[in-house]
Amino acid sequence: MTTVEADISNRSSTQGDLLSIRDLNVEFYSRGAWTRVVTDASLDLRTGGSLALVGESGSGKTVTSLSILQLLPQGNSRVSRGTIAFEDRELLTLPARQMQRVRGGEIGMIFQEPMTSLNPVFTIGDQIAETVRRHRKMSRKEAWARAVEVLDLVGISAAARRARDYPHSFSGGMRQRAMIAMAISCEPKLLIADEPTTALDVTVQAGILKLLRQLQTDLDMAVLLVTHDLGVVADFCDDVTVMYAGEPVERSDVNRLFQHPAHPYTSALLRSLPQRTALGDELVTIPGMVPQPDQLPPGCRFAPRCDFALAGMCDTTHPELAVLPTRQVTRCLRIADGSLDPASLTGTASPSDAESTAPRNTAPVTTQKGLEA
Ligand SMILES: Nc1ncnc2c1ncn2[C@@H]1O[C@H](COP(=O)(O)OP(=O)(O)O)[C@@H](O)[C@H]1O
Ligand code: SF4
Ligand SMILES: [Mg+2]
Repeated sequence: MTTVEADISNRSSTQGDLLSIRDLNVEFYSRGAWTRVVTDASLDLRTGGSLALVGESGSGKTVTSLSILQLLPQGNSRVSRGTIAFEDRELLTLPARQMQRVRGGEIGMIFQEPMTSLNPVFTIGDQIAETVRRHRKMSRKEAWARAVEVLDLVGISAAARRARDYPHSFSGGMRQRAMIAMAISCEPKLLIADEPTTALDVTVQAGILKLLRQLQTDLDMAVLLVTHDLGVVADFCDDVTVMYAGEPVERSDVNRLFQHPAHPYTSALLRSLPQRTALGDELVTIPGMVPQPDQLPPGCRFAPRCDFALAGMCDTTHPELAVLPTRQVTRCLRIADGSLDPASLTGTASPSDAESTAPRNTAPVTTQKGLEA
């Protein structure tokens, strides 16, 4: 655990009691060399809590979430450093048989494209029943009844009949609901949802998010929502970790993140939300692209795209994480040294139910180097 993460954990006794990722580093082998694609990622999720992992495409979100379930591609990837504690078990070193029990039993996962997980030659009901029987001692009849029950729970009407259908006869939204039904069929303690609504149209998207929220409450299930779209986390998550180019750059509770972002990248993401653009105005985008993992800039990874970058500083020194008095964690040299006031970063009034009573974070900062573990 880095000193800054120790500091964060010490300030909140409930954080991370379910899932606690520390200093995760993941590398891929290509063109004769290992390249690090995730650097020192740390996440905390408490029982029944919800955390969003947000960042543009290519920032390492999926690689981080696949690491949790030991689902990284074998042969050309490795976790070079870090720990992933799930309750009292270390998942990175868990033997394969125990990992199989965790996967699908205690941790469920849903992906952007359900057809990658649904088998076209079996009925939806059979596939869910099969998952149930893999993790629970149940007869075929009981497992089928459970399949129908969870299909009903996720809002598939006439569930007993639709359970006999094949995936191709379901619409995109219904397939995603079926995936969710499969993922929750064994009442997991944690659901990892990686871009669960990205392939769906906006109305269907809203319905799926509402369903996930409902299930999270009803089943007291923690949810790790992985998304490139900050817009979908507003009404969903308690906490947000923003990743950029393979490393976390801000961590905050959701209301504070929207109103008072503490990193220029978060602020840029908020400004580029389509929902925040008035009708007829041009959509703001962040100029440039996320750098490739083998072409990272030497200083701050966001520097080439940052409106606040200072030459001679941001382009040469890689920032450490720093904890603000507001308990936001940020990876910005200028916020850490006080030369950039987070109050000058653009936030937004959303989420609509957020209170704006919290004090602004003007006085930095406890830097990582200055903390004791
Ligand atoms: N199988 C793979 N082989 C090589 N590189 C990969 C592989 N999967 C992901 N990467 C690289 O890891 C980085 C992070 O990818 P990913 O976690 O999928 O990002 P995100 O989910 O945030 O869009 C990207 O630069 C991507 O090219
Ligand atoms: S360290 Fe510099 S370049 Fe990086 S986010 Fe902060 S101001 Fe921008
Ligand atoms: Mg992804």
